[in-house]
Amino acid sequence: MTDQTDSIVLVAGGAGEVGAGIARAFLETGATVIVPSRSSDHLDDLHGHLESSGVATDQLTPLVGNIGQIDGAKQLRDTILEQFGYVDTVVASLGGPQPIDRLIDVPLEIWDQVIDNFMTAQFVAARTFLPILAERVDSTYTLVNGLSGPTGTIAAPAASLMAVASAGEHMLMHALAKDATEYGASVRINELVPLTPLITRSKTDTDPEWLPAEAFGSVAVALATDSDHHGETIGVYSRTDVRRWEEGSGEWTPV
Ligand SMILES: NC(=O)c1ccc[n+]([C@@H]2O[C@H](COP(=O)([O-])OP(=O)(O)OC[C@H]3O[C@@H](n4cnc5c(N)ncnc54)[C@H](OP(=O)(O)O)[C@@H]3O)[C@@H](O)[C@H]2O)c1
Repeated sequence: MTDQTDSIVLVAGGAGEVGAGIARAFLETGATVIVPSRSSDHLDDLHGHLESSGVATDQLTPLVGNIGQIDGAKQLRDTILEQFGYVDTVVASLGGPQPIDRLIDVPLEIWDQVIDNFMTAQFVAARTFLPILAERVDSTYTLVNGLSGPTGTIAAPAASLMAVASAGEHMLMHALAKDATEYGASVRINELVPLTPLITRSKTDTDPEWLPAEAFGSVAVALATDSDHHGETIGVYSRTDVRRWEEGSGEWTPV
């Protein structure tokens, strides 16, 4: 695993199912890993989970705060800069499951919540932390998304609202990457998508063929140190089977 001992990494959503695996993968490289959460209980659960998995937590910095709101994100940014001075890598694994029945019956409040959790929180995190990353030479920003966004498919009717948000998040990644290129920011912005179900800490009924969240996280680590990718969607079957989504042909090609 790449040595990241001098890196300061922010895992937004790092107390969540997928985010915990990403935080773990970065901790295993020796990086300093900052995880914000709106809930101190979520952060305590993350800490307990990492310790019980045998992962050293001395480089973990949990911070209570809301990265999905303008003021909360600014407060987190100021605290992080005061404590560490810089950030090299942001991985944003925001969102969360919201199964629904028929889309047109969804109350507006649930619609707003899903758009807020997936797209607005991603946008607020990006607009707050991209200017900080732009001050570093080799910085990266990775959005974690579901498969629906890039491929334009809906896995099941219950996932249709999440698919709408996922498509918006996919275009957000492209828009942010285009902006960075247009305005001369050297930060590399990509999207990372699991191509197989993930084994996360709360899933009890899993299949050995599925991918552990920390293995998915290890690809986020690789992406943070690889200067070849910008404005791309990277899909992960396994640590060694990593693909790139080709928008034109609609295929996943090996990276
Ligand atoms: N779980 C899977 O198997 C799976 C598979 C494919 C793709 N994904 C994708 O992975 C991403 C994360 O999913 P997940 O299953 O890990 O979800 P999760 O367990 O609910 O975690 C999501 C995290 O996002 C944060 N968050 C959500 N809404 C927010 C908001 N409005 N403001 C600030 N923070 C917010 C939460 O932080 P707090 O701690 O503050 O609540 C939480 O830690 C999603 O894009 C999802 O589509 C997941």
